[in-house]
Amino acid sequence: MEETKKFRIAVIPGDGIGGEVVEQGLRVLEHLSKESNGKFVFENDFFPWGCEYYLKTGKMMDDDGVERLRGYDAIYFGAVGFPGVPDHVSLWGLRLAICQGFDQWANIRPIEFLPGVPRRLNHPDVDKLNWVLIRENSEGEYSGIGGRNFSGRGPGKEVAVQSALFTEHGCERIIRFAFDMARTRKRKKVTSITKSNAQQYGMVLWDEVFARVSKDYPDVETDQWLVDAAAAQFVLHPEELEVVVASNLFADILSDLGSALAGSLGLAASANLNPERKTPSMFESVHGSAPDIAGQGIANPIGAIGSAALMLEHLGLKEEAELVNKAIAETTGQGILTRDIGGNYDTVAITDAIIANLAKVKAGV
Ligand code: NAI
Ligand code: MG
Repeated sequence: MEETKKFRIAVIPGDGIGGEVVEQGLRVLEHLSKESNGKFVFENDFFPWGCEYYLKTGKMMDDDGVERLRGYDAIYFGAVGFPGVPDHVSLWGLRLAICQGFDQWANIRPIEFLPGVPRRLNHPDVDKLNWVLIRENSEGEYSGIGGRNFSGRGPGKEVAVQSALFTEHGCERIIRFAFDMARTRKRKKVTSITKSNAQQYGMVLWDEVFARVSKDYPDVETDQWLVDAAAAQFVLHPEELEVVVASNLFADILSDLGSALAGSLGLAASANLNPERKTPSMFESVHGSAPDIAGQGIANPIGAIGSAALMLEHLGLKEEAELVNKAIAETTGQGILTRDIGGNYDTVAITDAIIANLAKVKAGV
């Protein structure tokens, strides 16, 4: 018999509903491992980092946190942020510290229109819609360059500078990534989104790199939008979207728009990849810690479970990843829905159904 593959996963539940949804994703992974006839197991180590940890220790994660994560096969992340700790402290202290510390430069965010989920979008082909956002995840508006000063000038006169960093290398690698992904899809098309009329340096550089790289992919259609018009395009002509590549900030905003159009923020999965595989990649739902519903057991775990599927794919377990995605679609198709998408199932109950449906979709594969 083949040797059992062991995957070492660093689990960071984080704050609010982060822990609630990650727990459900882990149940799905555990179930798959049990059913794998010894093909693979997960060895999970939990890290208690987040806002509570900050309030106790003054740190969002330990000083050697990134180093301690380095040896893992993947990181499974909940969400970070809670009232009582400023959001910029929690985000920079944990999530961005990991993404940037490991150069997880490609953030993949699929937008899926699942069966049975009430549509927010009035579109004739709504059931066929499906696109993927590729978010530049290492620089752009989130490069953290800037500062605040001149507070000595007195109240009302402080100055803040926040710069966006665009490098040719950074633009080229994410744009190439998008073109490579487009080649794996039925319709080969990349839409690039900038605001290069107003952002005349960094985003003009992005546009020039896009034009240059596109010449290497003559088989891939291209399209370009300014971000304001692109927001409208998401609503009015989403059938035109296949692979969408955008800067750190723009893709962050557009992914919430996309997932809301598909039904709820709670549905959206994401992967923060280091495509060179020199460092661990991190898998997390798109949503935040949702303090407004935390602790009630009603959060939608589909984004987190879908992120676990992206992790399976990254670990080379493609069939299992596909099973999870099919089980999710089967479950919503049966009308088993959480409150955010119009149902009354809770976090655990919908996961129970997804796990039960794994066997069903497996029999059908
Ligand atoms: P959020 O995504 O946490 O919540 C926005 C709205 O969507 C809320 O009404 C929430 O109840 C709902 N929602 C989100 N996920 C849901 C789910 N799984 N099921 C059902 N409903 C869901 O964004 P918000 O409120 O702007 O931020 C809350 C905190 O999360 C802040 O501290 C923010 O900094 C942090 N945040 C962290 C992120 C991360 O860790 N990757 C990403 C976005 C925000
Ligand atoms: Mg976001």
